[in-house]
Amino acid sequence: MTVDTYRKPLLSALRGEVQQRPPLWLMRQAGRYLPEYRALRAKAGSFLDLCYDPVLAVEATLQPLRRFPLDGLILFSDILVVAEALGVKLWFEEGEGPRLKAIAEGGSLPEFDAERQRRHLAPVYEAMERVGATAPAGATVLGFAGAPWTLATYMVGGGRSRDFAATKGWAYRDPNSFSRLIETIRQAVAAHLIAQLDAGADAVQVFDSWAGALPESELTRWCVEPLKMIVADVKSVHPAAPIIGYPRGAGVACERFAAETGVDAISIDSTVPPVWAAARLQPHCTVQGNLDPVALLAGGDALRQAASRILDALGQGPFVFNLGEGVLPQTPPEHVAELCDLVRSWPDGNRR
Ligand code: CP3
Repeated sequence: MTVDTYRKPLLSALRGEVQQRPPLWLMRQAGRYLPEYRALRAKAGSFLDLCYDPVLAVEATLQPLRRFPLDGLILFSDILVVAEALGVKLWFEEGEGPRLKAIAEGGSLPEFDAERQRRHLAPVYEAMERVGATAPAGATVLGFAGAPWTLATYMVGGGRSRDFAATKGWAYRDPNSFSRLIETIRQAVAAHLIAQLDAGADAVQVFDSWAGALPESELTRWCVEPLKMIVADVKSVHPAAPIIGYPRGAGVACERFAAETGVDAISIDSTVPPVWAAARLQPHCTVQGNLDPVALLAGGDALRQAASRILDALGQGPFVFNLGEGVLPQTPPEHVAELCDLVRSWPDGNRR
């Protein structure tokens, strides 16, 4: 065991070591459910201003750790900054989520320009350096990026999509030009992950939030294969840095992500049965997940039971406790504190 992993339980769990008690962090652990985040966001002006201000982004990153005994921090940013670095105009409309100037099928494709991206995302890398310098001892610092398919759904759809008809339709009608788009995004994503690791991240997560929109054959081409190439690219520069894949909605295809892409950990959404994940995914890699964010919102017995079921199924193998999706803005912060207690006291506190 290296000194590094010895001091950082989350990092060592991502490397496949079973921990005495599972480490925990939460997707979207910084965000609107925290009053101090809302205050910071108001001070920054807009969400993107917050993302691109290294001092404020570091503050948002550290806020949840001041309240809760979490084992990881995820850099405060967004997956869509990479689309912007590729030259796609991005803005956030209050209460409506992201909007982008859509790339048209048959039109000109964005190009990856390493230097332009590095310049555009310099504030993100500066924030990462600052987080590394100020993170509490023992906390694992996570960088992240969106997966090519998920980024493509926003870049082609112009925002959040209901049926993914524009992006999927393009992939079906003209797979050759669509694969050029995916390839461009893939290069941008790999470079962004490598730059975050260069800046001091311990590990990275790749969010494929809309993997569940694709049937298996398409999933192979647009999600599994690109992730495998991203893992190879990142590992060629940072061989020891763990990579977490998060193919939300992929269901039984999670097994292929775990077995074929080379990720060190797979983050599962709340629909994946923990017992199935223990049998089919843990033999390949660390499993991360998968509490329903609504159980966290509800609290009480529902929260205790849901958390125990996950811990009992997965806690004996390589495991990181997390949600199946991000923390909901309405979540009472006290429920997060209770969840931390539940996980930290397992298995003694709540059983058997
Ligand atoms: O997890 C973290 O705490 C780190 C920061 C983070 C954010 N977004 C901050 C954010 C991360 C890792 C993301 C990932 C992200 N962003 C994904 C993948 C994960 C997922 O949720 O599926 C996606 C699809 C996006 C794109 C995006 N950004 C959407 C669809 C939205 C609007 C959703 C909403 O809740 O309003 C955002 C905005 C966003 N990203 C917020 C935060 C804290 C809310 C912005 C605000 O303060 O108003």
